[in-house]
Amino acid sequence: MKKYLVIGKPIDHSLSPKLHNYWIKKNNLNAIYEKRLAEEKDLEGLCNDVREGKIDGFNVTVPFKEKIKKYLDECTETANATNAVNTVYRKHEDGRYSVMGDNTDVFGFQQSCPLRNYSKRGASALIIGAGGASKAIIFALSNLNVRCFAITNRTREKAVNLMGQIIKPKDYKDHFIYEWCKDEEQMNKPDIVVNCTSLGLQEIDRIPLDFSKYKKRFFTKKIIFYDLIYNPEETNFLLNAKKIGQQAINGKMMFLYQAQKSFAIWHGIKNEINQEVINLLND
Ligand code: ATR
Repeated sequence: MKKYLVIGKPIDHSLSPKLHNYWIKKNNLNAIYEKRLAEEKDLEGLCNDVREGKIDGFNVTVPFKEKIKKYLDECTETANATNAVNTVYRKHEDGRYSVMGDNTDVFGFQQSCPLRNYSKRGASALIIGAGGASKAIIFALSNLNVRCFAITNRTREKAVNLMGQIIKPKDYKDHFIYEWCKDEEQMNKPDIVVNCTSLGLQEIDRIPLDFSKYKKRFFTKKIIFYDLIYNPEETNFLLNAKKIGQQAINGKMMFLYQAQKSFAIWHGIKNEINQEVINLLND
């Protein structure tokens, strides 16, 4: 029986086992997917287990997406560009096995982001947060032709650092760093605002960014408000967006699409994302 895992700390909340085991069963595969609470010292051993075939692959979640990289033999371009790995698998080439890392969060975001259907080139984005998730989202948005980025982060230094890492295509426009939730008045109108912070995981969390004050100036056009968080389903960030009549999207579809791609990497099967699968996460 093939064995797959999701590792992280904490890990209890993870819905990956539910989803992957559902697809394993649906495809009649002889496999199991479990969650495991891990420590940093376990990472090397887990990668060795994949190389030796004791484990067939695993997903990586917070806080190990970056830390796992040094134990891998090779990473995909996306994993290198984002400096984050969420899917580990084994590759057989030239008579030897190597342990590979990929980042399917980027695909998950791109597939679920309405900007992918925009014909407009050179869209703009406001990124809230400057951690590991922000880097992957900026990379994904660049693939979706976003050419102007603004970042606001509690720790300004991290925003500056992240900004310095954005690869600038020929047609890039000016980028901006805004003081943490102070500079709304100066902000340019973005096409999309993405919450990449963990603010919202607790029901009482509030991002101290008040767009409604500038409703007239800001919302002469539709803006997408996207929160990577999907549990709770509606963060205050999304509730506020809805209150001012804007499109609000949570991280559920991103989660489903990243899992779809991880599953395809391991099993060579592309599962359909349908209502049944979406409902599975609601139960
Ligand atoms: P991830 O890999 O999920 O992005 P991370 O690298 O730890 O995790 O980044 C978490 C992000 O959430 C950061 O932007 C962090 O802001 P700081 O850089 O100032 O730490 C942000 N964040 C977490 N808790 C926050 C809080 N209470 N208020 C404001 N921002 C917060």
